[in-house]
Amino acid sequence: MKLADRVYKISPSPTLALDAKAKEMASQGINVVNFGVGEPDFDTPQHIKDAAIDAINKGFTKYTPATGIADLKAAVVKKFKEDNGLEYKPSQVVVSVGAKHSIANAVMAVIGEGDECIIPAPYWVSYPEMVNIAGGKSVIVPLSEAENFKLTAEKLEKAITPKSKMIILNTPSNPTGAVYSREELKAIADVCKKHDIFIVSDEVYEKLMYDQAQHVSIASVSEDAYKRTVTVNGVSKAYAMTGWRIGYAAANPELVSAMSNIQGHVTTNPTSISQKAAVVALLGPQEPLKIMLNAFRERADYTYKRVNEIPGFFCRKPLGAFYVFPNVAKVFGKTVAGQVIKSADQLCDIFLDKVQVAIVPGSGFGSPDNIRISYATSMEKIVDGLNRVDALLKGAL
Ligand SMILES: Cc1ncc(COP(=O)(O)O)c(C=O)c1O
Repeated sequence: MKLADRVYKISPSPTLALDAKAKEMASQGINVVNFGVGEPDFDTPQHIKDAAIDAINKGFTKYTPATGIADLKAAVVKKFKEDNGLEYKPSQVVVSVGAKHSIANAVMAVIGEGDECIIPAPYWVSYPEMVNIAGGKSVIVPLSEAENFKLTAEKLEKAITPKSKMIILNTPSNPTGAVYSREELKAIADVCKKHDIFIVSDEVYEKLMYDQAQHVSIASVSEDAYKRTVTVNGVSKAYAMTGWRIGYAAANPELVSAMSNIQGHVTTNPTSISQKAAVVALLGPQEPLKIMLNAFRERADYTYKRVNEIPGFFCRKPLGAFYVFPNVAKVFGKTVAGQVIKSADQLCDIFLDKVQVAIVPGSGFGSPDNIRISYATSMEKIVDGLNRVDALLKGAL
């Protein structure tokens, strides 16, 4: 018996694997510092939880329309209009089981056998795997610190072939924290127009931005960009709701109809209870978000400064999301804990093994000279974890 070919083309998520390993070690009583996580360490705000409890008590526990309940779609429409200057009708919105699901729906709707999807690297680990599942080919465009890890129109132009169907952009970026400006997005959108390719714009970290950086939705840069873009967002990161699994996408009617059909046959609807909670997250008091944002800003400042003090590490200041992405190539060839370091993967294994610090190597993000450190954990843990890494490397460099 043999499984489908597509199964052999995909790899497990390195971030989820590392997180599971760190959690397993912690459950054995080991004092692990987990910098691998991609979720806020805050609890979901109480008023959001109350909305879910209320939904259960009122018996809101049945199937809903596949693409989401009317009040959540109305809240999403309002959010896009007020935050992003985007005018969508409720019929242009699909609520899904997390933003990941929204992106997967878009990829399944656009990418067919042999179609190419352009993905700037560093990228979020799941994009190329989604393209693989759809039978397409990822065209990876490597970007460096010197380019601020941002794709330019020129680089995009060079990656385009007659098979190009789509590009996936992520601003603010996981893992780099880079944020695109309106001008940069306009230049990219113009190239997409010229070659008639779809844009998936993953904006899940929109609410987590520092240093006065401004979030811009690429769909808002021109009428043409609006038509060719699937704008994706969700409540996981902004409202500390990762486990609730609610994301959403908006796009042109043809694409929305395709995404709705795909979703309808795979999952029916996102959880009814979580949808009620998401309405309150979007429309209710936003103070908890501000409190979280202030904590993230303080951690971002500290982590950025401290990481740059560690021998062999160099990172850019993150403008959004909750990660730093240091380049560690200077450590390659040096001996750490008795081993000559050949890769960031090996270095991260040593961090976990010798000082019990979980850090994700950049290889899974298409950037093998880097490592990703999530600061979605307490200041105390950040200080402790970075001190451990620093002490380990000080002896080596
Ligand atoms: C860039 C990016 N997009 C999408 C997601 C998925 O978010 P959700 O929990 O809404 O599926 C994540 C989660 O880590 C992410 O980092």
